[in-house]
Amino acid sequence: MNIYNLKDKSTASIYTAIALLKTIKNNPQAILGLATGSTMVELYPQFTDLLRANQVDVSGVHTFNLDEYVGLEATHPQSYYTYMHERLFNQYEGWQESNIHIPNGKSDEAVDEGARYEQLLHEMGRPDIQILGIGENGHIGFNEPGTSFESTTSIVDLTPSTLHANSIHFEHADDVPKQAVSMGLSSIMRAERIILLAFGEKKIDAIRRLATGEISEELPASILHRHSNVEVIVDDVIFKALH
Ligand code: F6R
Repeated sequence: MNIYNLKDKSTASIYTAIALLKTIKNNPQAILGLATGSTMVELYPQFTDLLRANQVDVSGVHTFNLDEYVGLEATHPQSYYTYMHERLFNQYEGWQESNIHIPNGKSDEAVDEGARYEQLLHEMGRPDIQILGIGENGHIGFNEPGTSFESTTSIVDLTPSTLHANSIHFEHADDVPKQAVSMGLSSIMRAERIILLAFGEKKIDAIRRLATGEISEELPASILHRHSNVEVIVDDVIFKALH
């Protein structure tokens, strides 16, 4: 695993947008694994900009998002469905709604949404690329510390640390859903290539622990040491704290 300092969020977002663009140019039927959260807010406008500039046909591309809050309608302003449509899918012609996969946070109780999503992931093949953020506690997707490395997509409980971090996006802290449907750690590891982005002071501790190389279920992101094609992209703030 290599850690690269691209100095700031903007440069890192352009780098990642170019990686996504190249993935689609190399394979117009590519499968992209996408993430949400504050880390990604500059990525999707940059990616859209490059798609426009290169007049890329994305109609054959499939996307899989990592997670969705349980209990929120897709149309809820804080749902990850809304996040992705506002920032990416509604911004460029050609994305096919039927090729956009986001876990259903409001699925019927009779449906095992985790199993449905995991099966779909397997039917489609391996994602060509997976973009990841990281939680302050080292989670990837919403796989919190202690999650089995064998985990597949399922409904997971969010820890107080994650609920607190995500509360900035909601009017009241109590409004943050307590659970999410998240791709599991073994699901994430199926991608051919992984780019993990981390910016700012709040992520220093998680990246410092990741950089030790120790592999432990207490630091979910540490599973990435077992993947042969992972880049960790950080900014100056994190890099300088580590050196
Ligand atoms: C989001 C996701 C999470 C976030 C992480 C960091 O789809 O899976 O793992 O990447 O919680 O969130 P931000 O970017 O808001 O700091």
